Amino acid sequence: VAALSVGAAWAEYPDKPVTIVVPFAAGGPTDKVARDLAEALRKPLNATIVIENVGGAGGTLGATKVSKASPDGYTLLLHHIGMSTSPALYRNLQYKTLDDFEYLGLINEVPMTLIARPSLPANNYAEFLKWIEANKGKINLANAGLGSASHLCGLIYQSTLKVDMTTVPYKGTGPAMTDLIGGQVDFMCDQTTNTTSQIDSGKVKAYAVTTTKRLGGGLAKYPTLDESGMKGFNVTIWHGLYAPKSTPKPVLDKINAALKTALKDAEFQKREEALGAVIVTDNRVNPAEHKKFVEAEINKWGPVIKAAGQYAD
Ligand code: MLT
Repeated sequence: VAALSVGAAWAEYPDKPVTIVVPFAAGGPTDKVARDLAEALRKPLNATIVIENVGGAGGTLGATKVSKASPDGYTLLLHHIGMSTSPALYRNLQYKTLDDFEYLGLINEVPMTLIARPSLPANNYAEFLKWIEANKGKINLANAGLGSASHLCGLIYQSTLKVDMTTVPYKGTGPAMTDLIGGQVDFMCDQTTNTTSQIDSGKVKAYAVTTTKRLGGGLAKYPTLDESGMKGFNVTIWHGLYAPKSTPKPVLDKINAALKTALKDAEFQKREEALGAVIVTDNRVNPAEHKKFVEAEINKWGPVIKAAGQYAD
């Protein structure tokens, strides 16, 4: 009878709102992906979806919260490449990335752009490099904290250029963007989901993209860092969905099926495409593939971060 009752209990899932924790402040790219995905998940999951922004410590506070949440399918985490960089960055990480989560599938891949405050006196990447040379020791680079995508990109950029910069951490690149537009910081490496509209509207200057192939649309005119002297520079951000470890399989299967449907939602695809994001194909939305991918990313970025000598206690 017990087994039957447990089974029956999950048959009703979901019978209350499902929370998706976004480990960064509202208004940034992670938040944007989460809110657009929530729209597309509502019907297939047949649930009200609530977005909860838990910013701080480069996304690790939000990830920790979900790793300790009740494994009932009502608290999920939408996170990005930071899941694979935080293990090397944080010596006292409060969760084990590969053991404390159920992997529900990858969502998309997002390129990044190098953008600057509108008053920065450089109008292309070559002039930007000259400006960096002339302003060594005075440059403020914004990011969303150790473990964020903007941090990883900025870290690799600085160490490749061999120029130390003051990094200014925010709870997300939403608030960082406000300060960049206001001229409080000099530049930032951020995802196209957050920068495309600001570049198009001239609110920030753009100089380059972080992928090895140039992007399409309005961003096609910006060179890649790879072609601009940083051979092999290639940073693409990815997002995935997670649940606390030991969430029952029938619940995980329901969420995974709903995620697969949501990624095919026409409106979601249109929004993602408009912002330069590429939705992953079906086989990458399966839990085993997702977990294998994150493990490979941990092994890829760990040495890069250790070589840059950055960590938090
Ligand atoms: C990041 O840099 O990790 C993200 O842009 C943070 C955010 O979504 O605000």
